[in-house]
Amino acid sequence: TKVSFKLNSGHQIPGVGLGTWRSEPGQVGEAVKTAIKAGYRHIDCAAIYGNEAEIGVALQSAFKEGLVKREELFVTSKLWNDQHAAEDVPQALKQTLSDLKLEYLDLYLIHWPLRVRKGDTSDSKLVDETNYEETWRAMERVKEQGLVKSIGVSNLSMKKLGEVLSYAKVPPAVNQIELHPLWRNDKMLAFAKEKGVHLSAYSPLGSGDENRKVLEYPVVKQIAEKLGKSPAQVVLRWGLQRGTSVLPKSTNFDRLRSNLEVTEWSLSEEDMKALSSIEDQGRIVAGTGFVGKKTGPYKTTTELWDGEL
Ligand code: A2P
Repeated sequence: TKVSFKLNSGHQIPGVGLGTWRSEPGQVGEAVKTAIKAGYRHIDCAAIYGNEAEIGVALQSAFKEGLVKREELFVTSKLWNDQHAAEDVPQALKQTLSDLKLEYLDLYLIHWPLRVRKGDTSDSKLVDETNYEETWRAMERVKEQGLVKSIGVSNLSMKKLGEVLSYAKVPPAVNQIELHPLWRNDKMLAFAKEKGVHLSAYSPLGSGDENRKVLEYPVVKQIAEKLGKSPAQVVLRWGLQRGTSVLPKSTNFDRLRSNLEVTEWSLSEEDMKALSSIEDQGRIVAGTGFVGKKTGPYKTTTELWDGEL
């Protein structure tokens, strides 16, 4: 039995998806194919990761070999910051579809709530005015055209998500954000639940960060030892039981296979509570590269996240 969640668009999102951020070209294609063989039915991509073409080749070969059918797979991608103009959204999507060799995406997300000048994929040419509503309207149009099944957002604060909900004709199905036991963001979890927006957890294992070692945190390790599971499995299961989908990244065969083995057992309420009471909370991905520049809408990370830090 696989865990999945129903989106407000009516579609189902599988609970565990393969993350592909920082998956090296030359490795990611193999990882995707291996993941599909291991039973993954959800792949999380983005144009900016620079590896969609290689993933596309892997997906094609998985379809050809009959490992999976297109309609059994949930594929996400994300619009990069230099493509926020209304006319650029369908173009960016078409590029992604062509790279991934797909006719539609299951989910398309606006990657960040800010713009950089067109053609600049670095963070250096930030545009002061971010007209998110224009971008959201363009997302609604590509959904209407059937190029994507569901649309959503990423890296939005509650304040920004609330704003989108206020003008959206099609509400965001998903807000994909950083979530793990050292950044629970309980308030966002409650807010999104109330509004019917599903949360997907990126960096659910703590992204390999040196300073905030999620997988080595004492409570996580204790519970893992007690249950005979790996720390990664405990943390992922915790995410699923909170009602979020989780997007662990791995290019290692054993790890990506074990990260999927989180559905045939569960954490007790007591263990859930222990994992949800770590006081040391903070973001790993704070978006520091997007703030404090000469241009751009946000001077500080506090502004970027509307104080939700
Ligand atoms: P690798 O790709 O070599 O497996 P996140 O998903 O939070 O971004 O974390 C990804 C990081 O965690 C990567 O460095 C990945 O390395 C590592 N990782 C993935 N799965 C596991 C696991 N089961 N145990 C330990 N580390 C893992």
